[in-house]
Amino acid sequence: MNPLPTYDELPTPTVLVDRARLAANIRGMQAACDAHGVELRPHIKTHKMVAVARQQLTAGARGLTCAKLGEAEAMLPSGVRSLFVAHSLVDPRQASRISALIEQLDELRLAVTSEEHTEVFLRLAALTGKKLSVMMAIDTGLGREGVRDLAAVGRIAAALGRSPHAELRGFYAHEGSLYGVPPAEQAARVEETIARVCAARDGIDRSLPVWPGCSVSARLVAAASRGRVQAVRPGTYVFGDIALAKLTGTMRADEVALHVLATVVDKPASGLALIDAGSKALFSDRTAANIFAIAADGRELSVVRVSEEHGWVRGADVDALRVGERLLFMPAHVCPVVNLTDEVVVTEGGRVVDVWRVEARGRVR
Ligand SMILES: Cc1ncc(COP(=O)(O)O)c(C=O)c1O
Repeated sequence: MNPLPTYDELPTPTVLVDRARLAANIRGMQAACDAHGVELRPHIKTHKMVAVARQQLTAGARGLTCAKLGEAEAMLPSGVRSLFVAHSLVDPRQASRISALIEQLDELRLAVTSEEHTEVFLRLAALTGKKLSVMMAIDTGLGREGVRDLAAVGRIAAALGRSPHAELRGFYAHEGSLYGVPPAEQAARVEETIARVCAARDGIDRSLPVWPGCSVSARLVAAASRGRVQAVRPGTYVFGDIALAKLTGTMRADEVALHVLATVVDKPASGLALIDAGSKALFSDRTAANIFAIAADGRELSVVRVSEEHGWVRGADVDALRVGERLLFMPAHVCPVVNLTDEVVVTEGGRVVDVWRVEARGRVR
């Protein structure tokens, strides 16, 4: 095995994970769920790493959530026994992969996301020759997947009930629309979410579990659950980003556990510095104010534009930067940043302590 590089030897751009902050984020979310008797089933789309999944499971996570079968397959070495693939699967060629996953797990849950989807999903289910455990998605304002008109819930449940290849095992929601809701209004929106998913569930079978809960809402959902919610599935909370630390007030900036180390490579004009991290390192997601990343050390420095290998840095502290200087940036949206790198460098107290592979990087099928 190659010896670990020192911090100063790291090439840039490099994705750094702060081990202590990551561990604190994992512990904190688990404790918030445990305190209210709600299961934590974290979404792995943010970290895509077996090393992180293992820590979540060791801390008490009941299972993992994935978007794609490829992510689920990549997480098997974590020792996970219960997986939920929260996506609208339709491809008949995926039947054998679903069967193989079921054989390697105690429990695999799949999603149905509308009447139209259910019809096609049931054809895929029949090809597996198995009885699939199914969670029904309810739209709670994001306007993506999930039943919009609750009148359809009964028809979907009936279609599942008629099939020998599916069994309705619960309801879920992804309230990603909370990312645009000010902190003061989040609790009210969470209550609406819980009420809506429970209303859908209550018309079918009150004993079925309800699983809402993204990173903005998970703690609020757990606190408001009062026996109505059985699990939450936050993902981004493990690392955090501008969205969670600056916009939604979900965590503090000094809890953010992932940064991109970049080098100032030029200062072409007053008020502007260029760094060697562009859309291929920081990704192209930005805040509503057009910020792609900010300096992690509190200096007033924002990446305001990216091309593939350059970031444009502006802000009050930009003229004090030196060409060749290295600094840490907090990305606007962390999940796609991880998906751009083969491995992350793990640090503790400013020292490099490990390197982790991103096993599910690019596993979008
Ligand atoms: C279905 C589903 N569940 C859970 C999550 C996790 O939410 P967050 O990114 O806020 O952690 C996502 C995120 O996209 C999702 O799509």
